[in-house]
Amino acid sequence: MITLNTSMKKDLTFLGIETSCDETAASVVREDAKGNVKILSNVISSQVDEHLKFGGVVPENAARSHAEKIDIIIKKAIDDSKCKFEELDGVAATAGPGLLVCLMVGLSAGKSIAGILKKPFLAINHLEGHALTPRIFNKIEFPYLLLLVSGGHTQFLIVEGIGKYKRIGTTIDDALGETFDKTAKMIGLEFPGGPKIEKLAENGNEKTYVLPKPILNHPGCNLSFAGLKTAILRLLPKIKTKKDKENLAASFQKTINEILYIKCKSAMTEFISKYKKDKKVFVISGGVASNKSIRNNLDKLSKEMDFENFFPPIELCSDNGAMIAWAGIERFKKGIEDNLDVLAKPRWPLDPDAPFLKGAGVKY
Ligand code: KG4
Ligand code: ZN
Repeated sequence: MITLNTSMKKDLTFLGIETSCDETAASVVREDAKGNVKILSNVISSQVDEHLKFGGVVPENAARSHAEKIDIIIKKAIDDSKCKFEELDGVAATAGPGLLVCLMVGLSAGKSIAGILKKPFLAINHLEGHALTPRIFNKIEFPYLLLLVSGGHTQFLIVEGIGKYKRIGTTIDDALGETFDKTAKMIGLEFPGGPKIEKLAENGNEKTYVLPKPILNHPGCNLSFAGLKTAILRLLPKIKTKKDKENLAASFQKTINEILYIKCKSAMTEFISKYKKDKKVFVISGGVASNKSIRNNLDKLSKEMDFENFFPPIELCSDNGAMIAWAGIERFKKGIEDNLDVLAKPRWPLDPDAPFLKGAGVKY
């Protein structure tokens, strides 16, 4: 990584490329000299249908699909933005974390375009893309509390600045998105299960099933969802009708909301004790942040705890190229640029000093 002097004030137009898992995405984002940001294009091609017959994402198939589509998706992002390649001020691509063979497709495409155009290249941490998304449209100052809830990650982080993260809590087993997906699969719903559970829950009675809330009363803000999944597996013989499924979905979502309420409250308390700030901000991002019931629950908690909270717009909660372009702009403005020999990093925690807890069977 090299550091540049970027004190100039001008429009910045970046291409962002995302291929860390099963979305092939590209976007052009522009920030003008006054700091107003516009997403000029946002093209996403999901591979969901291609992976259905295998019951999940097979890395080899996903990588092939990215390779087949990446040129078309990038060209469409450029065409939709009405920009020319030459007008770009930089190119950003996800370099990790994610599936190695998938990351390599978008990363190579980004490096090639930047190399040919002789424009700055930025290798982006996908999680930083999620973490900074709400700053596209809001002036959110550092530090802020972040709940990152996606298919592969569930963490509480304090965002101290660009590239500066402190993890204060994490799931010790399954990610929340994964828990939604596995629950959905158990009752016969296709991947991704989160939105389907949310829909089903609308007509269900949330009081029907009492589900466990693992490690709820333990100190701190680590989370655990594996026990919840096992409890649902045991209930399965009783889940026969559509009504049973609706009731289970509603009970599951209520349980998740109760867990999040308590754990987010602990995270907020920790944030308050560490940072004596008048204006306290809570950002919730990642695919699961598009769930309206979770949004309402965390809106309520934020009011109670005197936090201002921000969710990305629904269309930017799940994986997209705009968040990668934006993270590229944010990093570039800090004077950061990456070399073209940068490699994909399948594992790339935002807080490298935080201990690896997932699956560690943490004892309290
Ligand atoms: O951030 P994302 O698009 O990809 C990863 O980086 O993992 O998150 C995808 C996850 C999936 O597990 C999906 O089921 C979940 O987000 N998700 C939802 C909702 N929409 C997507 N979970 C609950 N409710 C939703 N409405
Ligand atoms: Zn993601």
